[in-house]
Amino acid sequence: MHISSQGSQIAPSAAVTEFLSRLSDGRMLIGDRWVAAADGATFDVVDPATGRVFHRAPQATAADVDAAVAAAREAFENPAWADMTPTARGQLLWKLADLIEANADELAEIESLDNGKAKVIARHADVVLAVDFLRYMAGWATKIEGSTVPVSVPYMPGAKLFAYTQREPVGVVAQIVPWNFPLLMAAWKLGPVLAVGCTSVLKPAEQTPLSALRLGELILEAGYPAGVVNVVTGFGHIAGARLAEHPDVDKVAFTGSTEVGKLIGHAAMSNLKRVSLELGGKSPVIVLPDADLEQSIGGAANAIFFNHGQVCTAGSRLYVHRSIFDRVAEGVAAAAKGIRLGHGLDPETQMGPLVSEEQARRVAGYIDAGLSEGAEALCGGRRADRDGFFVEPTVLVGCGPDATVVREEIFGPVLCAMPFDDLDEVAKAANDTPYGLAASVWGTDLRQIHRLVPKIKAGTVWVNAHNVLDAALPFGGFKQSGWGREMGRSVLDLYTEEKSVCMVV
Ligand code: NAI
Ligand code: MG
Repeated sequence: MHISSQGSQIAPSAAVTEFLSRLSDGRMLIGDRWVAAADGATFDVVDPATGRVFHRAPQATAADVDAAVAAAREAFENPAWADMTPTARGQLLWKLADLIEANADELAEIESLDNGKAKVIARHADVVLAVDFLRYMAGWATKIEGSTVPVSVPYMPGAKLFAYTQREPVGVVAQIVPWNFPLLMAAWKLGPVLAVGCTSVLKPAEQTPLSALRLGELILEAGYPAGVVNVVTGFGHIAGARLAEHPDVDKVAFTGSTEVGKLIGHAAMSNLKRVSLELGGKSPVIVLPDADLEQSIGGAANAIFFNHGQVCTAGSRLYVHRSIFDRVAEGVAAAAKGIRLGHGLDPETQMGPLVSEEQARRVAGYIDAGLSEGAEALCGGRRADRDGFFVEPTVLVGCGPDATVVREEIFGPVLCAMPFDDLDEVAKAANDTPYGLAASVWGTDLRQIHRLVPKIKAGTVWVNAHNVLDAALPFGGFKQSGWGREMGRSVLDLYTEEKSVCMVV
């Protein structure tokens, strides 16, 4: 493994330095005002590659959340937003996408500093996907249609009736996002809000508050009315919990852990607010005996190591047909050994640190648990010997089906590779998890693939690919991986109420 130069000589650009100094006294966006937390409290923003604190963000209290919800309610009712034409909503959303694109380098750098991921990845994955998704949603603004319904009403013989449905924005939406793709998750959440005419209180994760704040600036610059989007930074158990239980929030949309997703579901019962959840995963990667070896080795390595394994769809369980198991497992381990760790702003870096000390400890703890339960590490197996929150990319073999590392979401660069003998056996193993977010199947025999795909209980199944996401493709989980589908046409259902109108004519 190569470890690039330590981060000390890596300095933020002038644009990022200016952005940080604009918010240096701890400010977040409520209405169109940049405000400190009600009690002035802040929390540390840390560079995960060095452990150094480089900013302090406001720590929103319940009172701040209440103020943001009030601003969102006012905006929802403000004719400047409520009566905006669909075309104008679409144009505004397109303009926001243009502004993100125009500031792509700066946003990628902010994301890299805050999350630890390589800037080049943030630039060409996170930012590009955010722009593409917002443009896709801009197109939907003018296409939120109902239908006319021929009705019979047996107890009204002879009546002349006209009935139709229409879709209306659900209202004020609380949107709580995680730290693994901070900007992209914010875009996934805000796209439908801005297309259909809802308003939002967005809460980024406490590990990565910065890109949402920069996005807040761009939203005002685009010309959105005050309060359409509010950005409150703060802790999950305070600001997040208040949003989930808030009596004047009509819907909560959450991406994060299954554990917190369940808390949010309970809290939402207070006023039966609508809930959509994108939660954890333990996604299987299944390599059939006739698979292209080189393609599946590269694919399996990417499936687990992309974004340092901090991906809800990470391919964390690799099932390989016994006839090719050793070659594939060793191939993935060789790929892991070649990954260059380093600071996200170092252009040589291929994998950055994990997001936080807590996450690095959690992942290292899982590796230890795996080793003590009898697994063997073909590579990695520990934290990297340097400052920051680095964990070596790790491939474990010899894990039993009940091992902690096979059952629990690790959310780090740790793969469990296991052999299988036949299709039914691997389908059963793949489904032997409380999660059902995604899976991939690698092979060339279409009959086998078509037999396997329907057996897999997951919201997305890729064939000869993993982590291929598109704005037009619905995304979400079976089982404990969530409720609802984001993206595609499906997301409109999550952000609108259907109204039936029936008149006697
Ligand atoms: P988390 O689920 O606690 O955090 C995600 C978001 O939820 C953050 O914005 C956080 O502030 C908020 N939150 C936390 N507690 C809350 C509460 N009681 N009410 C409302 N909002 C709350 O995830 P965490 O602790 O950062 O990571 C723990 C594990 O969760 C990871 O190791 C990983 O397994 C999983 N995770 C999964 C993600 C996914 O995309 N599926 C994303 C992040 C974490
Ligand atoms: Mg948590």
